[in-house]
Amino acid sequence: MKNFVRALRFAFPYRARIIVSVICAVLAALFWSLNFTAIYPTMKIVGSGKNLQELIDDSIADVQKRSDEVRAGLEDKLKEQKRLLTEPPDADRFNQERHIARDIAVAESKLKSAAHEDARYRHAKRYIDAYLPTDRFRTIAFLVGLVVIGMALKGIFEFFQETLVGSVVNLSLFGLRNMCFRKVVHLDVSHFNEQGTHEMMSRFTNDIEMLGNGQKMLFGKMIAEPLRALGCVVFACFISWQLTFMFLVLVPVALVILTRVGRMMKRATRRMLERMSLIYKILQESFTGIRVVKAFTREAGERARFRRATREYYTKAMWVVKLDAIAGPIIEVLGIAAVAGALLAGAYLVINKKTHFLGIQMAYYPLEAESLLQLYALLAAISDPVRKLSSFLTKVQSGAAAADRIFNLIDRDPKVQSQPQGPRLNRHAETIEFKNVCFSYDPGHPILNGIDLRVRFGETIALVGKNGSGKSTLMNLLPRFYDPDHGSITVDGIDIRMANLRTLRQQVGVVTQDTILFDDTIARNISYGHPHATAEEIESAARQAFAHDFIAKLPNGYETRVGEAGSKLSGGQKQRLTLARAILRNPSILILDEFTSQSDAESEAIVHKFLREFMRQRTTFVITHRLNTLEIADRIVVLDAGRIVAVGTHADLLDHCNVYQRLHEAHFQRRVA
Ligand SMILES: Nc1ncnc2c1ncn2[C@@H]1O[C@H](COP(=O)(O)OP(=O)(O)OP(=O)(O)O)[C@@H](O)[C@H]1O
Ligand SMILES: [Mg+2]
Repeated sequence: MKNFVRALRFAFPYRARIIVSVICAVLAALFWSLNFTAIYPTMKIVGSGKNLQELIDDSIADVQKRSDEVRAGLEDKLKEQKRLLTEPPDADRFNQERHIARDIAVAESKLKSAAHEDARYRHAKRYIDAYLPTDRFRTIAFLVGLVVIGMALKGIFEFFQETLVGSVVNLSLFGLRNMCFRKVVHLDVSHFNEQGTHEMMSRFTNDIEMLGNGQKMLFGKMIAEPLRALGCVVFACFISWQLTFMFLVLVPVALVILTRVGRMMKRATRRMLERMSLIYKILQESFTGIRVVKAFTREAGERARFRRATREYYTKAMWVVKLDAIAGPIIEVLGIAAVAGALLAGAYLVINKKTHFLGIQMAYYPLEAESLLQLYALLAAISDPVRKLSSFLTKVQSGAAAADRIFNLIDRDPKVQSQPQGPRLNRHAETIEFKNVCFSYDPGHPILNGIDLRVRFGETIALVGKNGSGKSTLMNLLPRFYDPDHGSITVDGIDIRMANLRTLRQQVGVVTQDTILFDDTIARNISYGHPHATAEEIESAARQAFAHDFIAKLPNGYETRVGEAGSKLSGGQKQRLTLARAILRNPSILILDEFTSQSDAESEAIVHKFLREFMRQRTTFVITHRLNTLEIADRIVVLDAGRIVAVGTHADLLDHCNVYQRLHEAHFQRRVA
């Protein structure tokens, strides 16, 4: 529940709307419960054969008669009291005196209430005489007309209440979604690896939707429905508060049941949401991997996997549905049982013309049949809001389960701290130094071990080594996608963990091993890291990456959309766009991970020619399996199983380094073959 309440903070700025919606709810409830008060006069007019004016006169006479009787009785009692004073003061006399005193008190309270009633009737009479017709049918028509107008007013207020609540909820979700996104994009890369993007996506969509439903219930129903019930209770109390209270014993029982159901609901919803994120995962995997699915004719397999996940979701969703559905009827049966109890007691009073039921005083005067009918209608009307309230509680619990999942995401802290106060890194750093760097993705499985490397500004370092030797991992540490477990990386003597992260990343240009493009135009993909670049700058970067020629041949040139993840381009074309993107960013440290792995020999040679010029004023790390890329390197670093085994020029390494010799031989043999 804590997180559900936290989510409500996002609705706080719109509190004025909530207040107005509450006022609308109060008015709607008032008009709704007022309608039931038309039952009594209508029944009375139809049943008694008299018009309202005569009826009110009768009522006044009735009250008069009753209070006359009481007054006569009271006078007798007072006389009796006086007479007792003359008797000897023994126990018998005191006893009688006590009885009489009590009777007098009762009679006085009856007189008082009769006086109130009389005043009420006279007040009503003034209006009835002034405004209501004397014809019975026209009076009923008038009353029915009032009911219709009342309902229309109720409808208007309800409309405003619901739209206000809807706007508050959607605005608060808008805020929450954006805040959540802000948090998530600042999370570390490792969070995305562990959790999976599907999990995050489902929290942004499905979970937030679920939370919104809970909030809608809270703002819309939690105030409006109890108000409607309250309105009926108040009017029922006017008829007989004792009978109404008999009915209200249901409230604590219902609360106990609802809390239990609510707890189960929360658990069931959590499970349901987990299944939904599984569905997201399957969708994401099979859609992005659709070519593999088709090539390996795994459509049936994927279909089965999806069916399994959706079936599981169905089972979990049905639990939620059942819990939601069970709460209403239980509460309704309880409510009707309580109404029946109150009705039975009332019927007993009406039939036997009594004021006491099971020795408890229920009313001062025997109830009229019409009053009982109206009481019954009012109490039965309460069961509707109460039933809705039960579904409200289950929905809020579902929202609470969703809120827990959302805030679990929001509450994560990035391990890589951005150090906004830290020293800013200079452009054109003189040195980059790796000192005894150790790193592991999972504790206990070291990937990098004691890496020591010192790089001067302007150098081009090539990293070579077998697959999985840790080349990409090492380069991931430089822009701080991850931080090393031990050791440090310093730029001009400043540990990059202490430096301002933004200034560090602004200097690092990366071409990652997997080419990543956004579904946008080529121009905007190239200018991704430099959104204000001019068309000339973009074109010049594209020329340096040897991408201009193929872009110019596309139907829309730089305005061609590349499709999802660049699906409309070839592998080599995509790579050259990512290179152009890194070049345009004009970084002082450039990391190129397998940047020509998909280029043909000619393109590769041209790219190398362009790059030589570009790399002169910056520090470059090139990861490569192609030994002809090494021609652009000043020094070559050979990595093996997470360790640096040798550093040197091509000739040095051929002389001294076994690993390098083997790599070279394999490469050479392949070319000959
Ligand atoms: N996100 C990750 N979580 C856990 N382990 C990882 C992760 N990424 C890589 N690894 C592991 O780290 C090791 C080094 O991976 P890395 O990507 O650095 O290799 P590489 O030298 O770049 O290989 P390649 O030449 O194939 O690109 C591998 O054994 C890999 O299994
Ligand atoms: Mg790699």
